[in-house]
Amino acid sequence: MIIIKNRHEIKKMRNSGKLAAQLLNYIEPFVKEGVSTQYLNDCCETFTRKHGAKSAPLNYNGFPKSICTSINDVVCHGIPSEKEILKDGDIVNIDVTVILDGFHGDTSRTFLIGNVRTDVENLVKRTEKAMYLGINAVKPGGYFSDIGRVIENYISGFGYSIVKKYGGHGIGKRFHEEPFVAHYFTPENKIKLKKGMIFTIEPMINMGKSDAVNVSIIDGWTARTVDGSPSAQFEHTVLVTSDGAEILTKI
Ligand code: MF3
Ligand code: CO
Ligand code: CO
Repeated sequence: MIIIKNRHEIKKMRNSGKLAAQLLNYIEPFVKEGVSTQYLNDCCETFTRKHGAKSAPLNYNGFPKSICTSINDVVCHGIPSEKEILKDGDIVNIDVTVILDGFHGDTSRTFLIGNVRTDVENLVKRTEKAMYLGINAVKPGGYFSDIGRVIENYISGFGYSIVKKYGGHGIGKRFHEEPFVAHYFTPENKIKLKKGMIFTIEPMINMGKSDAVNVSIIDGWTARTVDGSPSAQFEHTVLVTSDGAEILTKI
C-alpha cells in the first residue's frame, strides 16, 4: 500500500527534508582530500542532534553508522571508517537521512575530491542530470514507470549501466515504504503517481556495462560494482503535487 500524506504529514516532511538538505550543505566544505569518512560521520551526527533530529541509518537493520559514504566503485551503503581517507581523484557519495518530529528526509550527492578524471566527472554530472530528469517526469496521473523510462532514455547513450538491485522508495514515518522506485524502464509497472505521495528518486549509475553489484560478505552492507568501475548517485525526496513534483530535500 502506498501512503498518501495529508497536509500535516506533508508539513513535517518539508521540515525533515529541509534539515537533510541543510545537513548536506553543512558537510560539503569538509568533504576534502585527507579527511576520514568517520570524521564526516561524526560531524553529521553532531549537526543532526543539535537540530533536534536523529540519524536514521544508525542501527537501521543493524547499520553501524549515522551516514553512508560510498567511494568510487562502491555503489551505496558504504560504512564510514577512521581508516578510510579521501584522496585526490576520488568520488564520494554522502547519503544522509534524518528523522525530525517522526518523519524522514533522505538525500545524497556525489562529491569530487581534487582532480577527478574527466570521464568520471562526466559520470557524476550525468547521474545528477538523470535524477533531475526523473524528478521532472513526475506528475499526478502519470506512472512510476515514467521515472525509469526518462532516466534509461538519457543514460543508455553513454554506455553506462543503471543499477537494478537498489531503487528509490516511499518515505515518511518509515525510512523505506512502498513502492520500490525503479530507475530503469519497467513497462509492466502500471502504478499511478498520485498527489500526496512522497518518495525518493536516487539513481545509481555505473560507468561499466554491468549493473550487477556485490554486497560485502565482510560487513554485510558495502555494495560494489562487480567490474570495479566507478558508480555515482544523487538522491532527493519528492512530493507529488497537483501539477508536478516538489523537491522536499532542498532549502
Ligand atoms: N539512505 C539510503 C537510501 O537512500 C538507505 C541507507 S540504509 C542504511 O535509501 F542502513 F544503510 F543506512
Ligand atoms: Co533513499
Ligand atoms: Co539515502
